Amino acid sequence: MVRLIAFLVGLGFVVVAGWSLGNGVYAFATQPREESVEHQFHLQPEHASYSFDGPFGTYDRQQLQRGFQVYKEVCAACHGLSYVAFRNLEEIGYGEAEVKAIANQWQIEVPDIDPKTGEASTRKATPADHFPSPYPNEVAARAANNNALPPDLSLITKARHGGASYVHSLLLGYRDPATYRNKEGEPVPTEVRPGQGLHFNPYFANLNIAMPPPIQSDGQVTYADGTAATRDQMAKDVSAFLTWTAEPRLENRHRAGLATLIFLLFATVLSYLAYQNVWHSAKRKVRASGPLDPVNLAKSHEASREAGIQQ
Ligand code: HEC
Repeated sequence: MVRLIAFLVGLGFVVVAGWSLGNGVYAFATQPREESVEHQFHLQPEHASYSFDGPFGTYDRQQLQRGFQVYKEVCAACHGLSYVAFRNLEEIGYGEAEVKAIANQWQIEVPDIDPKTGEASTRKATPADHFPSPYPNEVAARAANNNALPPDLSLITKARHGGASYVHSLLLGYRDPATYRNKEGEPVPTEVRPGQGLHFNPYFANLNIAMPPPIQSDGQVTYADGTAATRDQMAKDVSAFLTWTAEPRLENRHRAGLATLIFLLFATVLSYLAYQNVWHSAKRKVRASGPLDPVNLAKSHEASREAGIQQ
């Protein structure tokens, strides 16, 4: 009896689950999906071309240094780079002394403790330190940014679809919601217009970002190498720099890939030659002793003829 009740209860669950699955599948198949307003106005990042694109791409050290300059002078006020150490800058072409000077003059000091009293304090950065966050903790970061948290930028190009192109588009993507029109020519509806402290940017997933436009005018940074600092150039350079912070070993990876391809090509040729070498004599031997070998065929014909067998 208990078994029967358990069976019926189980059956009841299966019927209900099956019913709701069937309903869901039917609705999915027959009803068109409703597009959200965000979706209608959201833009995919525009692809910008970089020296590190493709399987053989390499970093342009000059560009990375320019990008670092933009990070240092603009973004570092709000964003940390906690996975990158000052000494890593040697990989993008800075000398040891330059790195020391950069760390020493960094605008934000790194947290430390007083060696005598053990009290919390700060000190100047050294090349071994990682780039410090501009805020002591998340609460302070949110309090300074309209309750939004500026993310650490070390891995941001890996964390967003589109990578460097996304950051580039985002930095230049601020628009005036009053005059902006989407591809269908529609104006921005009031429900997705930015609230207080937010900024309209169609490249950002929910269209309203708490980051004020960081790259505002040409010449905001004066490049050490004399390159003209247009808004597009600055956005591109800092995006390239953030690709390097997220993937400093990209060039090794590309080189290893190329070496592997060459090796595989070489191994293919080698194995083909080995195959020919090994089977070449084996095939000859088979033919020489096999029944279809012309010599053997002639012999068998001869024997048949001698025995008076018609072929
Ligand atoms: C005034 C402070 C401030 C400055 C300066 C600033 N940002 Fe931001 N940034 C923010 C805040 C706040 C957010 C979080 C926005 C949100 O979640 O709405 C953010 C978010 C971002 C994001 C993530 C967007 C996403 O998809 O989640 C990126 C990328 C970014 N900033 C890049 C930069 C770069 C590059 C610079 C320098 C050129 C820079 N920011 C300068 C405050 C700042």
